[in-house]
Amino acid sequence: MGDTKENLASAFAGESQANRRYLAFAKKAVEDGFPNLAKLFKAAAAAETIHAHNHLRVMGGIGSTTENVQEAFDGETFEFQQMYPEFLAVAKEAGEAQATWSFDVALQVEKVHAGLYEGALASINSGKDLEVEKFYVCKVCGNTFENEHPDECPICYATEFKEV
Ligand SMILES: [Fe+2]
Ligand SMILES: [Fe+2]
Repeated sequence: MGDTKENLASAFAGESQANRRYLAFAKKAVEDGFPNLAKLFKAAAAAETIHAHNHLRVMGGIGSTTENVQEAFDGETFEFQQMYPEFLAVAKEAGEAQATWSFDVALQVEKVHAGLYEGALASINSGKDLEVEKFYVCKVCGNTFENEHPDECPICYATEFKEV
């Protein structure tokens, strides 16, 4: 058991993971014919997001918008430059094909995100919001596009995109 600062960080990580896990479980419940169970998973997932945000706020994890964009850029850059290349190399070496795919597409998309955040930083630093109408996210790999998407995702070749 650590001190409260460590416990907040640990609880934030756990609640964040529970949120994504429950949403994945909800999708599976729908596929398996249990739509009301899916609602329970979704409701609990929404509550875990509230807990995660409470913990993050209390631990001082939300800065000014400029600081937040910088932190997002730094995080994505770390992921595509250091973390995913290492994970990818280990998975490839072990012949873990699915993990290799999962790490590889994430690496490529984090690179896209770093570029988007880098561009955003320039706008936000000069006090201007982004000049963008909407974003599209590839439903298979998460590749992210400003304003319009190609017919086929250049990273994973999927053809369905979610509008944000
Ligand atoms: Fe990302
Ligand atoms: Fe994709």
